[in-house]
Amino acid sequence: MSALSSLSNKILKSNIEAMPATSCFEDTDIKHIELGAGCGNFGKQFFPPCYLTDANKALLEQCQPCSLDCICEAQNIPCEKNRFSKVLICNPFGYGFYTAEQTKQLLDELVRVLESEGKIIVLGNQTNKYFKPSKLEKQIKSYESQTQDTELSVEVEDLNDKIEQLYPNYSFFQCDGKTPAKVTHQAIITLRKTSL
Ligand SMILES: C[S@@+](CC[C@H](N)C(=O)[O-])C[C@H]1O[C@@H](n2cnc3c(N)ncnc32)[C@H](O)[C@@H]1O
Repeated sequence: MSALSSLSNKILKSNIEAMPATSCFEDTDIKHIELGAGCGNFGKQFFPPCYLTDANKALLEQCQPCSLDCICEAQNIPCEKNRFSKVLICNPFGYGFYTAEQTKQLLDELVRVLESEGKIIVLGNQTNKYFKPSKLEKQIKSYESQTQDTELSVEVEDLNDKIEQLYPNYSFFQCDGKTPAKVTHQAIITLRKTSL
């Protein structure tokens, strides 16, 4: 390889590494993102403007209509750090806050993409093992105790019948996109980064 092409390869490589993968999220005025959105449009309806994402590519064809802006895993969001002010998660399934390892994987990524004072809003049922309100606070505290520059506070609310008041006429679904998912609790996790 010539010295010139070796140099241009180096420049190309450093550009790719330095370049944030923003193609899904080009509009910097949009500071909210929903993860695992399925065929719904929760974020767009109640926290607009909001990007909707899900890991399952098949949804692009299965959902009629499909409101997804990006196919990506919650643990690997193609954007630069401190990009969003709110992350929304409804009925996580297959990812979430089940084990300490899962919680760490997810929170590491959410701490990266959220700005300081950013919020994670999680809605789910108390029987959902990926979001059990009774375990969530423990998982979050345990995660926080292992990190040095992030403080997390959690507020869990039992919604009872408030779900209709907060999010009127909205239907949540299980992974099949058809069977209704009952939401009974909401958790708001606020993060504060002490060094950016
Ligand atoms: C139970 S559905 C909830 C759909 C919608 N949020 C609702 O409440 O109606 C869970 C969704 O999470 C998605 N999902 C599963 N693993 C994921 C991951 N690692 N990252 C992002 N989404 C994931 C699934 O494809 C599915 O659409």
